[in-house]
Amino acid sequence: MSELPDVMRAIVAAEPGGPEVLELREVPRPSPGPGEVLIRVAAAGVNPVDAKTRSGAGATRFLGDDGFPWIPGWDLAGTVVEAGFGVARFGVGDRVFGTVGFPYAAGAYAEYATAHVSQLSRSPRSLDDVHAAALAMGGLTAWQALVDAGGLETNQRVLVTAAAGGVGHLAVQIAADLGAVVVAVASPDNVDFVRTLGASEIVDRTQPDWAAGIEPVDLALDAFGGPAREPAASTVKPGGTIVTLPTANRPPAPDGVHDPLVFVAPDGLELQLLTGSVERGALKPHVSETLPLADAARAHELIAAGGTRGKIVLTID
Ligand SMILES: NC(=O)c1ccc[n+]([C@@H]2O[C@H](COP(=O)([O-])OP(=O)(O)OC[C@H]3O[C@@H](n4cnc5c(N)ncnc54)[C@H](OP(=O)(O)O)[C@@H]3O)[C@@H](O)[C@H]2O)c1
Repeated sequence: MSELPDVMRAIVAAEPGGPEVLELREVPRPSPGPGEVLIRVAAAGVNPVDAKTRSGAGATRFLGDDGFPWIPGWDLAGTVVEAGFGVARFGVGDRVFGTVGFPYAAGAYAEYATAHVSQLSRSPRSLDDVHAAALAMGGLTAWQALVDAGGLETNQRVLVTAAAGGVGHLAVQIAADLGAVVVAVASPDNVDFVRTLGASEIVDRTQPDWAAGIEPVDLALDAFGGPAREPAASTVKPGGTIVTLPTANRPPAPDGVHDPLVFVAPDGLELQLLTGSVERGALKPHVSETLPLADAARAHELIAAGGTRGKIVLTID
């Protein structure tokens, strides 16, 4: 007989709207299907797409006609409390983390969530749940943009905009660990921070024409888009690549510059690669703020303001 409760606390957005639509409620606890595990969530990472989707943009179109009421959140870390049919990869008591279900509804802002085992990795031993949750979507996005889409190689030059942000601060570390020369673009407040991540060159994005003096790069990972896209693209060598992460409203890239569209995909095996980098001491997520689950609305205000250094994480006790 299961000792797990039938109901749980979760953040629910009854309808799309501002941060005030996020309410802490009691809802039915999910059960794991075949190939899934049930996770007691200890920490949920907050990403810009959480706030965009809550407002009716972002991944809303993937939630379907009955997408709301919606439990936000895709990044989680916690402990397996039940294994569904056929699951051999993880067992009760294993610490796991991942970006689960994206872009469909996954409900990480809750005491319990289910996830397919293919989308999870064991949490790095050297990270607590808060930092494991902070690693998931940012780390996967950075890896998929730099390596899968960008083909980054040792000794290549790579530019990263929003280098202090949730994706950027992990991208700088991953690229430096791969042996690339990293040009990090950040505001003056974040110069010291991005230097500690392994950036070789740091450019102040608040200066006019900030891209003008940069030696050409093989790859630009533009994690900001909008006003950063054209200057970032102007630094890319002919035949090189720009990856702009905000996927909406991308003006065309210059002729001869590859411009793949990256839409982060859950991937437990890539999370294992990131876990390995963490265990080697080459990758460390930075958490600037932790907030209790009940303060999800505040977390959304902060992430939407755009000034986050590293990550914001919700804790669920
Ligand atoms: N395509 C995908 O699959 C995918 C996946 C993940 C994320 N994304 C998108 O990628 C973007 C970045 O995500 P994130 O999690 O890294 O966001 P984030 O953590 O909110 O990024 C915050 C960073 O943006 C920088 N920033 C603020 N204003 C800026 C400006 N005017 N110009 C340049 N940089 C500025 C800030 O650093 P400074 O003040 O130092 O510049 C801050 O550290 C979001 O739009 C997100 O939705 C897309």
